[in-house]
Amino acid sequence: MAGNTEAGGPPLIYLNNAATSWPKPHEVLEEVARCLQTPFFELGRSTAGGITDYPSATRDALAGLLHAGEPGHFIFTGSATDSLNLLIHGFVKKEKKPFHAITTELEHNSVLRPLHSLAGEGHLSLSVVPFQEGHVTLHEIKKAIRPETRLVVMTHGSNVLGSLQDIRPIAEYCRANDIFLVVDGAQTAGQVPINLSAIPAGAFVFTGHKALFGIPGIGGFYLNDPEAIAPVRQGGTGTDSHLLSQPVDMPQKFETGTPNYPGIASLLAGIRYIEREGVDTIARKCKDLLFLFIKEIKRNPDILLYTPAPDLPVVSFNIRNLNNDETGYILGKAYNIVTRTGLHCAPLVHDRIDSGKGCVRVSFSHLTTPEECLVAAGAVREVAEGADR
Ligand SMILES: Cc1ncc(COP(=O)(O)O)c(C=O)c1O
Repeated sequence: MAGNTEAGGPPLIYLNNAATSWPKPHEVLEEVARCLQTPFFELGRSTAGGITDYPSATRDALAGLLHAGEPGHFIFTGSATDSLNLLIHGFVKKEKKPFHAITTELEHNSVLRPLHSLAGEGHLSLSVVPFQEGHVTLHEIKKAIRPETRLVVMTHGSNVLGSLQDIRPIAEYCRANDIFLVVDGAQTAGQVPINLSAIPAGAFVFTGHKALFGIPGIGGFYLNDPEAIAPVRQGGTGTDSHLLSQPVDMPQKFETGTPNYPGIASLLAGIRYIEREGVDTIARKCKDLLFLFIKEIKRNPDILLYTPAPDLPVVSFNIRNLNNDETGYILGKAYNIVTRTGLHCAPLVHDRIDSGKGCVRVSFSHLTTPEECLVAAGAVREVAEGADR
């Protein structure tokens, strides 16, 4: 979707949806306004009649979209990063003694940094398994397993390569071996069909502000077994207030303090939008955009593509003879196209694909148009032709 900018300039083309989606469907903005215009209400925390209980409605909506059995096992947090920290630290707290953990080269720093920090403090030892052609296999995970392996944390979809991971066999293996599997679904929730009842992961993390079309500041996770981790935060829940200890019921066990009601309302409206459009349709449309863009930029051999056949609407590339930040600068300044440049918070991926220098990333959403894709691909080709001269 194009936005208007200064008079005379080209219309804005926003292709940074893997960072945060823009624009939001209009009903998301309207729901946030509605939420702020009415008193906040949540069963157990306040009394009211006829006002939407956004947290409960949104847990139900998440359970419907992601096919999860227990709406009350969805925990709201501030972001995917916040969720990953709560889960990883919560697992360490519950385990009490040091253990071995496995992660992958595909991960975002929101996985790598908490794990490295805890490894540095002696709580865990860490193995990082490699990817081949964008994918981490159960075979690679198994090679890293040790008798003391208790935790695997891995992404469902790479934010640089756009590759979707086949999580189900890994989840089944982890469950059979009493290993807690945390899946980072920041790039996949809302983007592709997901059936959590068929993927026995310990926890599935989502963020609200990307493909779920919510606003920044809302995320969460689905926790299969509430006993799998210990709460690392304590405080008010509006329930069991006579207790000086954290309530043990879900979701209060892990949700504390006043929730982000407008963020939760935005998530509800985002999910309703996705359900109305159909997540299959969204996935298919985004793939069409992706292949259109890739086909167009492939016409110039000086555009080095790192994601020849991604599953998610993410294209990472560099232009020969140009730094990624120069390419991004020209696309922004001369064409009014928003991309993202650099390391995309996933440094180990870049060590493999571009010698750690970083690349340009273009990412689409359901609201990107084919025309925008063609204009952007044409712009990238022009920049590449200019760099060649
Ligand atoms: C794969 C992946 N994990 C985690 C995150 C962090 O998401 P959030 O912004 O919700 O903390 C991102 C976002 O960039 C991501 O792409």
